[in-house]
Amino acid sequence: MPSFQTSPGTRDILPPHAGRWRALTDVFADTVQSAGYECIIPPMFEDLGVFLRLGEATDVVTKEMYDFVDKGDRHIALRPEQTAGVCRAFAQHRPVTPWKVWYSGPNFRYEKPQAGRYRQFDQVGVEVLGSDDALLDAEVISLAWQFFARLGLAKVELVVNSLGDAPERGAYIDALRAHFESRRGELSEESAATLARNPLRVLDSKRPADAAAVASAPRISSFLSAESASHFAAVLAGLDALGVPYRVNEMLVRGLDYYRRTTFEFVSLSLDGAQNAVGGGGRYDGLVEDLGGPATGGVGFAIGVDRTLLACDAEGVFGTGAVGIDAFVVDVTDGMAALRLTEDLRAAGYTADRAFDGRSMKSQMKAADRSGASFAVIVGADEAAAATCTVRDLSSSEQVTVPQSGLVAHLAATLGTRTPRRNPR
Ligand code: HAM
Repeated sequence: MPSFQTSPGTRDILPPHAGRWRALTDVFADTVQSAGYECIIPPMFEDLGVFLRLGEATDVVTKEMYDFVDKGDRHIALRPEQTAGVCRAFAQHRPVTPWKVWYSGPNFRYEKPQAGRYRQFDQVGVEVLGSDDALLDAEVISLAWQFFARLGLAKVELVVNSLGDAPERGAYIDALRAHFESRRGELSEESAATLARNPLRVLDSKRPADAAAVASAPRISSFLSAESASHFAAVLAGLDALGVPYRVNEMLVRGLDYYRRTTFEFVSLSLDGAQNAVGGGGRYDGLVEDLGGPATGGVGFAIGVDRTLLACDAEGVFGTGAVGIDAFVVDVTDGMAALRLTEDLRAAGYTADRAFDGRSMKSQMKAADRSGASFAVIVGADEAAAATCTVRDLSSSEQVTVPQSGLVAHLAATLGTRTPRRNPR
């Protein structure tokens, strides 16, 4: 047993899996950059106050925050998500609006670890600040939809709702509180406790004991102002126009309190019910103001990378994509030929690796096989003396001896030319 293991709720993402994470981020970046979103990299920790805006009554704030007092007596927290940090950045830097940004990276929540729920987890996401146009909500939602489609996921359902603006949401929460208070005796112990803190979250209960009280609870749609209702109708019309299928679910409440009007969640139908939300988001007009900036509309989403990849596994799509290298140089002389040849190949844009430590021919050939290389480039004593190398096709075992100076041209004839990394020597 080694002395140290990863902490609960954290994992080492090892190769080739880590390559798949990067590939997923590339697909995401490509999708959103084509729509004019630019990358932002907010810090991983901020003043705790930034994250208190997620809602004093939310689990994320009350139970799950990784917070500490640093050596300068500042109360700091590791970010549990990135929307609040992006809004803080907006309030601090006041960029030109609309500000369309995307991000990727780890977040930290002290949750009970289980499959699909970790204490350090990655998200990719977008935020747009400075517009309250309903068609922007439709664009944002459809970008997430396109991303899932590009990964090959077919069993993802989009659920949408509107929570109304602050006054409507407030009135709705009061009505919910009154409703659940009047049926408190029926509620599960957990929901009775949740009710005191956050009546909205009781709607989220999947416990059978709560089912009747939840089913008869007031609906948000009857609390929406004419303005919020028409904003929501415009979002849905936008989704219809884009051909993005959705289901309206008035019971959709999100785990964070900053949402106003549009909220949505992407649910994977191939994942276990408890952890099946692969992404979610919505509008959070008012958050920038809360953080000391001007009144600013905002909308965005975040997608859980860990869960999305679990959904990909469940659907058998978006494999590791582990591709072998072009060439593995096997040098059984002093290793200098391998040093030069791998460098020449890499400079010409090919992927190339080699063995170290003066291993035997057998051991180096095994390493070449393991690397998944298309070709082994072999330099033995004869080749070294003649400044040649033997290029062996590792799938057909055919081989040919060429001058070392002609190796790149030889591979180009088979593999095609690549974009040079820099000028070859
Ligand atoms: P969220 O719903 O808390 O929203 O998280 C978004 C996604 O992150 C979830 O749907 C899930 O896939 C993933 N996720 C959350 N917690 C965990 C965890 N402990 N382990 C693994 N995956 C997890 C937000 O974070 C908002 N900032 C989304 C947003 C952006 N709203 C507006 N803009």
